[in-house]
Amino acid sequence: MSTAKKSIIDFIKSYTSENLDIKYEIELIFQDVLNCKKIDLYTNKNLSINNNQGQIIDDYVKRVKSGEPVQYVLSKAPFYGRFFFVTQDVLIPRFDSELIIDILNQHEVCDKLLEIGVGSGNLAVTIAAEQLANEIIATDISQKKLDIAIHNKKNICPNSKIKFIIDDFFNSHLCPNEKFDIIISNPPYIPQHQIVHLDNSVKNHEPIDALTDGYDGFNFYKQFALAGNDLLKENGFMLLEIGVDNDLKSLYDIFSMYDFKVYKDINKIPRVIKIS
Ligand SMILES: C[S@@+](CC[C@H](N)C(=O)[O-])C[C@H]1O[C@@H](n2cnc3c(N)ncnc32)[C@H](O)[C@@H]1O
Repeated sequence: MSTAKKSIIDFIKSYTSENLDIKYEIELIFQDVLNCKKIDLYTNKNLSINNNQGQIIDDYVKRVKSGEPVQYVLSKAPFYGRFFFVTQDVLIPRFDSELIIDILNQHEVCDKLLEIGVGSGNLAVTIAAEQLANEIIATDISQKKLDIAIHNKKNICPNSKIKFIIDDFFNSHLCPNEKFDIIISNPPYIPQHQIVHLDNSVKNHEPIDALTDGYDGFNFYKQFALAGNDLLKENGFMLLEIGVDNDLKSLYDIFSMYDFKVYKDINKIPRVIKIS
């Protein structure tokens, strides 16, 4: 990038002239490299780009244009008003998953909460930061993912209590007598056969073990149905994110022994089920 006498707006335009679809990503890159807010890009006449910054922006834009998600390029993703450190080891936190936090916000503070499949820690760490639970246990099958969640916890809410445990939900070694008020999870729910149809940015970059259960997308829900009664306190409940391929009739059948409530996201798509 030549940085001579061009406004930031001109720079942004030069990157988006052929492809307006990446304007959001380009703006995030500029904000990150120039350490400013979006509005500054368009209003702050004193903002300038030095050669080093221009080089970094060029490199980042190339990676985005090649299909890499901007969150991995910048090593950070927003969730519920905070930035989480992310690498390609963890799923990028999705706006859709914020619904679980919104639902918890409507409940009284929970005593003991369990998250299965913590990934980057976006849910457990947000719950801790928002003080929605007194005690949190968060598990994942992958130590690499837990390390990232631990890093985010240290950065975002160092004084809160979250116990991170490596554990395979299908062969769990969680203490058998331990019971929870609330269990939350955004499990890998995409059917294996749908993976080929995902955007390249997802299927070529995000971890496969966070996307699919390797079968029909219902394995985790079946396991929650099996384990729920043993893990939940008497008035406890589970909040489980679901995807567009997880039809409600099948889920209703899987949880036929439980009460079942559906929450829709802002696009009116069923997104979270409450199982009690
Ligand atoms: C869809 S990601 C959710 C990550 C994060 N909670 C979020 O909402 O973005 C699912 C997570 O489940 C974890 N996982 C996959 N199989 C698991 C298993 N058998 N037991 C526990 N966690 C598992 C993955 O490593 C991944 O971090």
